[in-house]
Amino acid sequence: MSYETVALTKEIIPALVLLERACFSVPWTEGMFCGELENDAAVYRIVLCEGKPVAYMGMWCVADEGQITNIAVDPGHRRKGLAFSLLNEFVKLASERKLTLLTLEVREHNEAAIGLYEKMGFVQVGRRQKYYENREDALLMTLFLDKLC
Ligand SMILES: CC(C)(COP(=O)(O)OP(=O)(O)OC[C@H]1O[C@@H](n2cnc3c(N)ncnc32)[C@H](O)[C@@H]1OP(=O)(O)O)[C@@H](O)C(=O)NCCC(=O)NCCS
Repeated sequence: MSYETVALTKEIIPALVLLERACFSVPWTEGMFCGELENDAAVYRIVLCEGKPVAYMGMWCVADEGQITNIAVDPGHRRKGLAFSLLNEFVKLASERKLTLLTLEVREHNEAAIGLYEKMGFVQVGRRQKYYENREDALLMTLFLDKLC
């Protein structure tokens, strides 16, 4: 299977929304992705397989910090290293932009995502109680880029 990575475009958004629905209980809408096209702080990378989005990741760069907005991989393409590879690309991008850290929120029971972030070197720095719609806590995780290498 061959994959290619592209930037976010208006044309790709309807297919991205289908990927969102396959991955999240509260998926992003078309309007939310369209808003990101207007957001100068936002960077998105979409992985295509035979022209169809099968993974994506986004980040907002604000001052010297990167806030990861989302990362998702189509269930049929998981455990092939796509998320890890996207995350690596964003860490490289963050270093080029001289960001000092990457930060994100993750559901406390999302073992796959927590495993992914820990493999990359993220550490838990906080917790938001009952943050999500089902009252699940959010873990705040950070990757300190100046501590890498
Ligand atoms: C979390 C998610 C993005 C991982 O994508 P993926 O492409 O399958 O992940 P990778 O193949 O790159 O795996 C990298 C590492 O993540 C961890 N990991 C991934 N899936 C895992 C699982 N089901 N259980 C435990 N650890 C897992 C492992 O440490 C893995 O490394 P390994 O393969 O050497 O064991 C994917 O499961 C997903 O889209 N989930 C739904 C959306 C979501 O929850 N996004 C995160 C929001 S915070």
